[in-house]
Amino acid sequence: MKVVTSATELPSGCAFVPTMGALHGGHASLFQIAKRENENVVASIFINPLQFENQEDLAKYPKTPEFDIELAKNSGITHLWLPKRDEIYPEGFPMIKADPISELYEGASRPGHFDGVVTVVRRLFDLVKPSVAVFGEKDFQQLKLVEKIAGDVAILSAPIIRESDGLAMSSRNIRLSSEGRAAAPVIYRALSNAGSENELRDILSTEPLFTLDYADFIDEETFLAAGPNTQKVRAIVAGWINGVRLIDNMQMVKRS
Ligand code: PAF
Repeated sequence: MKVVTSATELPSGCAFVPTMGALHGGHASLFQIAKRENENVVASIFINPLQFENQEDLAKYPKTPEFDIELAKNSGITHLWLPKRDEIYPEGFPMIKADPISELYEGASRPGHFDGVVTVVRRLFDLVKPSVAVFGEKDFQQLKLVEKIAGDVAILSAPIIRESDGLAMSSRNIRLSSEGRAAAPVIYRALSNAGSENELRDILSTEPLFTLDYADFIDEETFLAAGPNTQKVRAIVAGWINGVRLIDNMQMVKRS
């Protein structure tokens, strides 16, 4: 694996996985999918300041550089790109406005977040010139918004990877206290057992350490409230434990 700091050293037409580091099994699964697509697999690690709506969250974002390099080496990545801020954001770079669904759910709670995400993803794509890029379903709204700005880069989605107790893997999980970590699987229990929004919220409310932001059944494409005729319904949940924001989602299979 080559570790590079400039996009000029990357093979174009590759399979690409953008990350913000603090890598875990969820990222490893994205790398595996990328490997099936192309002999050249490029991963980037860049903590994008534009997608953090507050400086404290940016400062607290976990950083595990040595571990990341080891995990990347063992995951079949051919090029690990560690760009500097100036390469991503030169003077006068264009900011992109995300599709209006960016104003719902995660976007409502984190104003400007998705404009920052689509801006960095577009910049990364323009610099790397991949043929395909892999994104996890864990950040489901991000995945849908990236699909809208991908242009000729094919977007592959990857299923959520969970710990053995169901907690969705996330870089933020390492910030949970041991009590918080023990409480967090309530989200998976709620998603797996609820047949309605009320049931989803009821199960979540059994965990005193969990503070709810939203728990809704939505139409996967429009992000509007799911109705009786919605083809693909997804339950989406966000909230906080120990001040750490946790999000998760699951497709709901229609029960007749
Ligand atoms: O999902 C992430 O880690 C980030 O939002 C991404 C896609 C790397 C953009 O900074």
